[in-house]
Amino acid sequence: MKNALIFANWKSNKSKNEAKKWFEEVGHSDFPDNLKVVIFPPFTLLDILSGYIKVNSLPFKLGAQDISPFDRGAYTGEISASQIKEFAEFVLIGHSERRTNFGESDEVVRNKVDKAIEAGLIPVVCISNLDQIRGLGEEKVIFAYEPIGSIGTGNPEDPALVDKIAGQIKEKTNREVIYGGSVNADNIKKYLSLENISGSLIGGASLDPSSFKNVLKNAV
Ligand code: PGA
Repeated sequence: MKNALIFANWKSNKSKNEAKKWFEEVGHSDFPDNLKVVIFPPFTLLDILSGYIKVNSLPFKLGAQDISPFDRGAYTGEISASQIKEFAEFVLIGHSERRTNFGESDEVVRNKVDKAIEAGLIPVVCISNLDQIRGLGEEKVIFAYEPIGSIGTGNPEDPALVDKIAGQIKEKTNREVIYGGSVNADNIKKYLSLENISGSLIGGASLDPSSFKNVLKNAV
């Protein structure tokens, strides 16, 4: 059985109480060591969840959903990579929702990747086409291939096409590639078994504790 990355993107969801309940339910799920499970909660929950994971020795890591393209300083509203590093090891960069709703350009994405790497975070760079890998291959990043039409739509991309595109990304960059877009407990295994895919980025199906527990169960 190959190692797999299971990344849960909570997006702009969950209060403190909801997050604690989620962890109470999912926290002690038994899953084998070959799954690396990383939760990407909103910024507001990183502190409390990192404490909770430590105190309860849970087998989860944390990531942020975004970082500032600048260093710390006079950038009202931004959170810098070094601030994130206190609580998390990973960071999502360039999610299509940020590119679309917040006008994030490839240049901004590149700046964020640089800041993440300087701070010792592992950037998970979300891309929806091959052009978006330009200038990013050298760094220690993980690519999340997420076709826009598959995100949150219940229409996951054809696995053969995902494998083909992931193969092209790997060929150009030599980096690991995960797939995201309407992945759930029913289809996770199909994507994890693809030759060029190292894991999955899961949005909707990660929110409900029992649905995420089923994802973990079916992933192995
Ligand atoms: P989804 O989201 O699983 O709800 O399609 C994936 C993502 O946006 O990363």
